[in-house]
Amino acid sequence: MELYHSIQLPGLTIPGNIILAPMAGYTDAPFRQICLENGAVFTYSEMVSAEACYRENKKTLGLLVRAENEDYLGVQIFTSNAKSAALAVKAILPSRPSLVDLNCGCSIKKILKSGCGAQLLSDPRKIRDIILAIRDVTDLPVTMKIRSGIDRESINYIEVADAGIEAGISLITLHPRTKSQVFTGKADWEHLEILKNHVPIPVIGSGDLFTPEDVKNMLTRTGCDGVMLARGAIGNPFIFNRTRQYLVTGREPPQVSIEAKLKGALKHIRLFIRSRSEERACIEFRKHFSAYTRYIPDGAALRRSAMQASSYAEYENLVNEYLASKRAEF
Ligand SMILES: Cc1cc2nc3c(=O)[nH]c(=O)nc-3n(C[C@H](O)[C@H](O)[C@H](O)COP(=O)(O)O)c2cc1C
Repeated sequence: MELYHSIQLPGLTIPGNIILAPMAGYTDAPFRQICLENGAVFTYSEMVSAEACYRENKKTLGLLVRAENEDYLGVQIFTSNAKSAALAVKAILPSRPSLVDLNCGCSIKKILKSGCGAQLLSDPRKIRDIILAIRDVTDLPVTMKIRSGIDRESINYIEVADAGIEAGISLITLHPRTKSQVFTGKADWEHLEILKNHVPIPVIGSGDLFTPEDVKNMLTRTGCDGVMLARGAIGNPFIFNRTRQYLVTGREPPQVSIEAKLKGALKHIRLFIRSRSEERACIEFRKHFSAYTRYIPDGAALRRSAMQASSYAEYENLVNEYLASKRAEF
């Protein structure tokens, strides 16, 4: 099979296999729009609290509004309770999700304490019950995103996958680190290969994908059906087109120019400003700007100046001055 291809679920064709991962604090509509403009074909919302959804928390439901170029959107919920899951899914149906995903991988203390995220891995039966409750209220595909286990001594992704499949999930994503690892060490891609050989549904791989070559290696080494780009897409939405090109042609595409990166960052700020006040947007955007400028010459000075920027005009001036100074150097 070609390395780049669509993924078929019951009732849904995901048109490509390079997907934007859910990332809390990052994968809002502006970022998803930028990723789609740069070659992503399917995106996920950041995880949203099931309780906040059914209580119709405006900020939470706002996270599920589609970007203007977004034909598909996977909505990811976190909960430890089957009833809450069902109520939440009913509440989010008006936002027309393409699928509903259950978060079984988040390792943030606050989430774990309430029995959600990766904590669910310790109770596969509870996962099954939550999935069944979701399936009771919707015919949309239901998927889940898991880690390999709680810790090295309790790796149980196969058991967790079986529980999900018994309850009727249509796709599974594995970030092959344990809850205890959080982001340390290396993702163990071998778990992906074992999972792929075990389950009858599509498997998406996540973990340590920073370049088109990483994606090709994961697909070829593990046989998984698709990948989710996460940290590799922050400040680098261009990775989607570049990866797709690499998978299709086998040739490493040229690097994105500094000018294109910075113009991309400015476009991203303009979208950001549409959904919040200009000052708020510019302050919140600093984390993205740091990522866009991470690997450019003298990026540190540019980032320091941007830490003071609280209007679009200030960002634009900084970028224009930077580009003019670099043109003068060459
Ligand atoms: C800032 C940040 C926020 C994340 N938020 C979520 C989330 O809301 N839901 C989820 O399932 N995974 C979340 N993740 C995990 C990623 O989706 C992905 O599985 C993980 O980063 C491994 O991929 P990578 O090594 O290529 O970054 C988050 C990761 C990061 C870095």
